[in-house]
Amino acid sequence: MSYKSGRHFLQIPGPSPVPDRILNAMSYQTIDHRGPEFAELGQEVLAGIKRIFKTDSPVVIYPASGTGAWEAALVNTLSAGDTVLMCETGQFATLWHELATKLGLEVEFIPGDWRHGADPHAIEARLKADTGHSIKAVCVVHNETSTGVTSRIAEVRRAIDNSNHPALFLVDTISGLASADYRHDEWGVDVTVSGSQKGLMLPPGISFNALSDKALAAAKQARLPKSYWDWQSMLASNATGYFPYTPATNLLFGLKEAIHMLEVEGLDHVFARHQRHAEATRRAVRAWGLEVLCLNEDEYSPVLTAVVLPEGHDADRLRRVILERFDMSLGAGLGKLKGKIFRIGHLGDINDLTLLGTLAGIEMGLSCAGVPHQAGGVQVAMSYLADT
Ligand SMILES: Cc1ncc(COP(=O)(O)O)c(C=O)c1O
Repeated sequence: MSYKSGRHFLQIPGPSPVPDRILNAMSYQTIDHRGPEFAELGQEVLAGIKRIFKTDSPVVIYPASGTGAWEAALVNTLSAGDTVLMCETGQFATLWHELATKLGLEVEFIPGDWRHGADPHAIEARLKADTGHSIKAVCVVHNETSTGVTSRIAEVRRAIDNSNHPALFLVDTISGLASADYRHDEWGVDVTVSGSQKGLMLPPGISFNALSDKALAAAKQARLPKSYWDWQSMLASNATGYFPYTPATNLLFGLKEAIHMLEVEGLDHVFARHQRHAEATRRAVRAWGLEVLCLNEDEYSPVLTAVVLPEGHDADRLRRVILERFDMSLGAGLGKLKGKIFRIGHLGDINDLTLLGTLAGIEMGLSCAGVPHQAGGVQVAMSYLADT
């Protein structure tokens, strides 16, 4: 590989670029995770992360990718043979479904077209029909990273309440947390799953379960085998700032800095910044004459935009041309969307000029790859950003 000047544009929808402040915060000697200095760090991040999830309940931090936290959410609350209701919003919902099936759960999958979020009406209707309460949990992906579509979590909560059903509510906001508005307590979520490598601007490697009293009560009855993921041993150690096994100490240094940065900017400002960049991106896509995958404007993701390529044009080839010519990584189409779409990540540590550089790389790439489009998307995004 020859030397490439300038910086690589990592515009996939996570992992997102890690700010220098976080890299610097992590570049210290690893400390004794059983010593007094660690307890201070542990207590600080365990308290701080609750503010990011907007919860007063405990948040468990695992040294694992998001998939581990998915598994943790299920094995701590459910027993073999339990039925869970999931919604086919895209590839990540499909993978969570597969994971649940491998654990011995029965999954009912409400079908979807990968262009809409979870349908609160369909959930309500299914729960109302479940008079025997065989469904033990409703599992929804908040920000479907494979499609750029969000699910309306507060409305799903209302659907569960309207049906008077006792099911737990489990939500994956692995790619939503700290980019899209999220309120664990207010929205009555029992377990929220998240990860480090998206809105929290950290490298991959830690993930989270935010809990509720109801989830903690369910954990006492849950019979799926667990050891590493067991909330009880985590919470017992966390009470004094420690972990039951070796934590990802340096990532926790980074998490402390990330929480600080998010709070200095202000979460509301962070969310508004993401919305504005997402809107500028969609305007550019439309000006190019291309289609945004998400069909419902109430469900547009502030984190990423998935763009549909015209029939007969391979999105992976376009991504390859852009990587080779302009040193920018864009997200691939996953699962059944492979080759049909590309995904623009506009999350985390980015500003107007980062976004405009990204859009410029795409507009040039469309020309280089011979994808039919109209020029001028970048200009439209520039005008929008200049005026707002
Ligand atoms: C919505 C969503 N869920 C789950 C995952 C899986 O997380 P991980 O790859 O960190 O295991 C991802 C990863 O991108 C995701 O975006």
